[in-house]
Amino acid sequence: MTGCILALLSLLAASTACSRQEPVPADPAPDGLVLFNQNCATCHMADGGGVPNLQPSLQDSGWISNPDPQPLLSLILRGSAVLGEGAKAYENDMAPQDHLTDAEVAALATHVRSRFAAGPAAKPVALAEVALARARPVLPH
Ligand code: HEC
Repeated sequence: MTGCILALLSLLAASTACSRQEPVPADPAPDGLVLFNQNCATCHMADGGGVPNLQPSLQDSGWISNPDPQPLLSLILRGSAVLGEGAKAYENDMAPQDHLTDAEVAALATHVRSRFAAGPAAKPVALAEVALARARPVLPH
């Protein structure tokens, strides 16, 4: 019995020692696909195909294909308010996604641009570009 307890104790000690050796996980870079599934797929669907009359398809969207990421960033941060007349074509509104951090918006925009743009993959969206979009008034389009 004592041997058993001792064995248990040493097991415990060993596992504590092990967990102490595990590296402290670094703050992971935001994952664009995970963020897309969490913040966009409810409306635009997991494949970005949208829902007729309710939410547009993101595939080949001009907002996403535009080499200048500013209009897309503004749309992500402010939602339907940015679309003006274009918004009337769909019954739903796009909610502003301004709860996302600059790093999350950058990862998300980079993800949708490489996945849904009509042309070849656009360059990754930088943090500074998101900060600019957040600071600026709504862009005319
Ligand atoms: C609450 C539902 C909803 C959510 C969540 C949502 N959208 Fe939208 N989105 C819409 C609707 C509806 C429109 C059409 C605009 C309108 O009618 O107001 C739209 C329009 C767009 C467009 C323009 C498409 C085009 O070419 O006309 C893009 C790009 C877009 N959304 C990207 C995103 C991204 C990226 C996310 C996640 C960060 C997101 N949306 C989250 C509902 C949503």
